[in-house]
Amino acid sequence: METEIININTSTDKESIYKKLKQYYNENKLVAIPTETVYGLSADATKDEAVGKIYTAKGRPSDNPLIIHFYEISQLDNIVDYSDERVKKLAEYFWPGPMTLILNAKVNNNISKKASAGLETLAVRMPSNKTARNILKETRILLAAPSANTSGKPSPTRFSHVYHDLNGKIEVIIEDEQAEFGLESTVIDCTRTPLVIARPGEITKENIEAVLGIGSVKYNDEIMTETKIPIAPGMKYRHYSPEAELIVYHDTLDKLIEYLKTKNKKTGLITYSNNEKKVEHLPVVVKFLANNEKNIEQSNKNLYNILREFDNEKVDEIYMLPIKETKENVALLNRLNKAISKK
Ligand code: TXA
Ligand code: MG
Repeated sequence: METEIININTSTDKESIYKKLKQYYNENKLVAIPTETVYGLSADATKDEAVGKIYTAKGRPSDNPLIIHFYEISQLDNIVDYSDERVKKLAEYFWPGPMTLILNAKVNNNISKKASAGLETLAVRMPSNKTARNILKETRILLAAPSANTSGKPSPTRFSHVYHDLNGKIEVIIEDEQAEFGLESTVIDCTRTPLVIARPGEITKENIEAVLGIGSVKYNDEIMTETKIPIAPGMKYRHYSPEAELIVYHDTLDKLIEYLKTKNKKTGLITYSNNEKKVEHLPVVVKFLANNEKNIEQSNKNLYNILREFDNEKVDEIYMLPIKETKENVALLNRLNKAISKK
């Protein structure tokens, strides 16, 4: 299949692009779109055939449900129950934005059962990225969209990542800027009390508590130890993994540098650019996550690109020092831990 690359930003006839995209969605075609978190692989969520093609293109297990993206809340009227006051408040504060809510689905909703993987709940999100919002606005189609990567690869934060994984496998890729946040949305299960963060993201536990009060929300990990059931089906799969083994070295950077000099494998190092002088003559592939450890925003934005670059350079092992957990870096550490853990 030949994949069409479209850049809406540089086009002088945006209207005809939206018209064409609407037509493509009607024809069950797949369109990779930018969002503020990561690029998504979108299709009309109401069509079985279209949604089925998403799973095939990604090589995604069919029991892992998809997020439904929408332009305005009234589109959800016949789809999910959003009458819960907590949901209304979260929606008001954080949408459009990097937040996904798991809500009870309405009976007889017209979303493909393939998108919900047969569950009685649906995950919904109103993205804030300008291009995504315009596509949702102009087509008025509910879009099922997982991250636009091959299953098991780091999520795509740049057009080039999507192209690498899906060129030739899907009909269209919308070319846009690098994703603003770089990690996937916060997924909040709103069918429970307290609410449960099924996947940490840009919207933190503290952000949610600032709106709904202390104790209104728990992390999935806290729940997991009680029930041992992963509440977001995606949590049970190995994710975000680079080809090489990612190893955390529990000592100082100086000790790690000495150790790396003894390595005869092709080795990578993840550190910060404030250590640039220290590592400049090391015979290893060095990538900087950010200028320093405190810069979470930059680290989030760079992580997946760095993991992909290591894949391209075919290193055997990647080393890094442990990162201290803070309130702000929960999402980053969650993704790093997934990249570290092996099957
Ligand atoms: O930032 C994002 O959320 C991106 C962009 C494209 O919107 N999308 C994304 O989708 O990360 P995906 O499919 O890679 O991750 C969706 C996660 C999975 O872990 C899935 O299991 C979970 O959400 N999920 C979806 N529907 C669910 C449901 N009804 N109940 C529980 N978990 C659900
Ligand atoms: Mg994904």
